[in-house]
Amino acid sequence: MKKFAVFGNPIAHSLSPDIHQMFAESCDQDIQYSRICAGEDTFEDEVRGFFDDPNAVGCNVTVPFKTRAFVMADVKDDAACVARALNTLMKVDGKYFGYNTDGMGLVRDLAALDISLQGKQVSLLGAGGAARGVIMPLLNAGVEKVAIINRTLAKAQALVDEVADTRVQVASPDQAGGQLIINSTSASLHHELPQGVAPTLFTRCEMAYDMVYASQPTSFMKYACEYGAENQADGLGMLVEQAAAAFHIWTGCNPATFDVKERLRARLS
Ligand code: ATR
Repeated sequence: MKKFAVFGNPIAHSLSPDIHQMFAESCDQDIQYSRICAGEDTFEDEVRGFFDDPNAVGCNVTVPFKTRAFVMADVKDDAACVARALNTLMKVDGKYFGYNTDGMGLVRDLAALDISLQGKQVSLLGAGGAARGVIMPLLNAGVEKVAIINRTLAKAQALVDEVADTRVQVASPDQAGGQLIINSTSASLHHELPQGVAPTLFTRCEMAYDMVYASQPTSFMKYACEYGAENQADGLGMLVEQAAAAFHIWTGCNPATFDVKERLRARLS
């Protein structure tokens, strides 16, 4: 039986095993997918130990190990290189191949939500790892401009300097935002609205997207709705789509995602 795992700490909450089992069923595959709560000092050894099993095919990596997984990988895709972090690993001929499918997950979920990205202006709240992972995939999907809005201005500026693309700039939260406003901050994890977010941000907003998911609309989604965003979504769809991209890398199969999103949503409520 093919073996897979997700490494993180904490990891008990992870939906990845459920998502990948659903994919495997729909693709007629028999897999084992485990949660591994890796130790701070032992993450790399635990990943190597996992791949020592000849049945091990691939693993996902989540908080707080995405940057360390990037360092471990011998070969990395472009998205992982820009993010300097990765969420998907596989081992082929003794080499670790690393991928970051988060940005692709966001882009695919937006497409599933019927949001066109071509020529659009995006305001991206936050300048951490989650933001870093989605900037290039958004631009590659046709987005015209990405305005980075962050509580700590210097961090937003550092990210913009690093990306070094004229389409990516720093903006202040009280400026009118783009057609797509994405919350990549960790504020929703603490049931908070991102500090500094202002009503004017949503003046032209077609979609307010929170990368965090929850059983109820997040504070960000509720605020966006109140101040005129036409649509709001949380990150459950992105989670499923990034997993589908990983499943394809490992198995060559493209699992259907719509039913998986519906089933997880029903389970959350
Ligand atoms: P991740 O890797 O998940 O993106 P991170 O690197 O810790 O996590 O980044 C979290 C981001 O959320 C940061 O941009 C942070 O803003 P600062 O750079 O000012 O710390 C942002 N953030 C977290 N909580 C926030 C809050 N309550 N309001 C606004 N921004 C917040």
